[in-house]
Amino acid sequence: MSQPLDVAVVIPTFNEVRNVPVLVARLDAALAGRAWEAIFVDDDSPDGTADAAREIARRDSRVRVIQRIGRRGLSSACIEGMCATAAPLVAVIDGDLQHDETILPAMADALNADASLDVVIGSRFVSGGGTGDWDRDRVAKSAFATRLSRRVLKADLTDPMSGFFMIRTKIVRDLAPHLAAIGFKILLDIMTGAPHPLKFLELPYTFRVRSEGESKLDHVVAMEFLIALYDRMFGRIVPVRFAMFSAIGAIGVGVHMGVLTPILLVWGDRAFLLGQVIAAMVAMTVNFFLNNALTYRDRRLTGWRQLLDGWVSFCVVCGVGLVANVGVAGFLHEARDGTWATAALVGVLIGAVWNYALSSRFTWGR
Ligand code: GDD
Ligand code: MN
Repeated sequence: MSQPLDVAVVIPTFNEVRNVPVLVARLDAALAGRAWEAIFVDDDSPDGTADAAREIARRDSRVRVIQRIGRRGLSSACIEGMCATAAPLVAVIDGDLQHDETILPAMADALNADASLDVVIGSRFVSGGGTGDWDRDRVAKSAFATRLSRRVLKADLTDPMSGFFMIRTKIVRDLAPHLAAIGFKILLDIMTGAPHPLKFLELPYTFRVRSEGESKLDHVVAMEFLIALYDRMFGRIVPVRFAMFSAIGAIGVGVHMGVLTPILLVWGDRAFLLGQVIAAMVAMTVNFFLNNALTYRDRRLTGWRQLLDGWVSFCVVCGVGLVANVGVAGFLHEARDGTWATAALVGVLIGAVWNYALSSRFTWGR
């Protein structure tokens, strides 16, 4: 038997085909003399990243590939990779060469030297580290996200946005069922999800410029970050999806009033019923598309056939929901006269729960 496996390096990838061989060569140099393995977790990249990694893996058994089909997501890819190794230590590093692999040995040494240490984090914001040549816009966005997450999560990290760290594998394995696994920020997820505060050490590194391929950080990723923060803070009280569904429902009320008002202004009271129907149809349609793009973006309906079916079922569900809403409010109002506001609110709440429960089952349930 050779030296027992010491450290695994998990590399989440999406369209990084040209970076794969370079990264493996750099890991080989950085981790010389150690027993390591590299695990690429690729979300079926159209550019053939997984094939490129397998090509290397055929010759070098330290390289492994997990190819996920029909899945996307940086956090969940990292978790699956980290749970797939027998090594006691596991690192996560970007596949685009932006993280500095030369500090991996120092990370492993720190963990091996101090048994009470749980995780070592590569930080751009401790002395000696840096953001390379990011433009001002990206620096500002990153600083904002950093402040926000430090405030709400009370995690005293200089670089909570970092995606570059090494941790004891068992911690992740135990924690995995409780991780939110949404979006980009796997480290935050781990640090804030752990039952006890994790003992961490930060080592400086300089974020490199990406030379091949492109970043996947976009508005959707930014939104998922906010969703993940919300989920950590209030997710147990009001689930993320229901919160989004309700917020969009409130927008729908605004749309409804915005359509109804001019109709009544022009045609007067006799147009009330027709105006209500038109306003409700417009509001439901807007809500349908917003929910499809946001609340249910992971099971988004596409193509005119799916969209039409979805729209019809959504309108039917919401129509019944409206009847329930008005019916319940009317009943409460009769039973306990005077408290019309409470009655109306209960009606709205019941309608919202109804719409949410049934549309998640019938409109977006596949
Ligand atoms: N499997 C998988 N699935 N990998 C993904 C996905 C995905 O959906 N999206 C991105 N990746 C991979 C990329 O291929 C790359 O290897 C790595 O994750 C980072 O993605 P980038 O798109 O290059 O991210 P970035 O450079 O904007 O952000 C990096 O810097 C942040 C610091 O501000 C990431 O390392 C973050 O984790 C880090 O926090
Ligand atoms: Mn990158």
